[in-house]
Amino acid sequence: MTNRPFTVAIDGPAAAGKGTISKQVADHFGFAHLDTGLLYRAVGARTLDGEDALTAAEALVPADLDREGLRTPQVAEAASRVAAMPAVRKALVAFQKGFARRPGGAVLDGRDIGTVICPDADAKLFVTASAEVRAARRHLELTGKGLAVTYDEVLADQLARDARDTGRADAPLTQAPDAMLIDTSDMTIEQAVARAIAEIESRMRGDG
Ligand code: CDP
Repeated sequence: MTNRPFTVAIDGPAAAGKGTISKQVADHFGFAHLDTGLLYRAVGARTLDGEDALTAAEALVPADLDREGLRTPQVAEAASRVAAMPAVRKALVAFQKGFARRPGGAVLDGRDIGTVICPDADAKLFVTASAEVRAARRHLELTGKGLAVTYDEVLADQLARDARDTGRADAPLTQAPDAMLIDTSDMTIEQAVARAIAEIESRMRGDG
């Protein structure tokens, strides 16, 4: 493990495999991991409780990320709505940047990590998969938790959220020019993680 800050930025659309890859990459290198989607989900959840989005973003504390129920489709939808508000995004920048620079290395995953939060990240990955594969994975995840949703509902929600995330004016979802693309549609999770680790090691050696 290195002691100097080493930042890995992982971006991509909903349910592409970012979370699983990020966790395993962080474990492999002994880096800390921040799922930045949880910040937006936590703010979104508070708006569903009737709170103002900016007030919620400004008052966010790390314990909010452990709140129950952040992984539901309703909260994902609320997250994507608050994520389109520039003031909300701004309120969450300092925490993310501070996390990225922690000694010992950090992996951050989200939508704008390689483009806005950490444009100088040491390694950048853009993880994607076809809309159908992503919807099938998310459908399995949600029904596995006992939620009553159909594949078609999951696909429709996801397409709407991807369109909002890609089309917003502030920090839209897009691949950074220096990010490596990993399309996980036909990969096992082991293959995707191995590809990510190989790319990060190559950046560590300086030949990436
Ligand atoms: O788990 P999934 O990929 O479906 O979503 P997530 O990563 O938890 O993110 C939920 C929502 O937060 C996204 O649809 C985005 O609108 C927003 N988000 C963002 O705008 N910027 C980030 N860095 C992370 C998430």
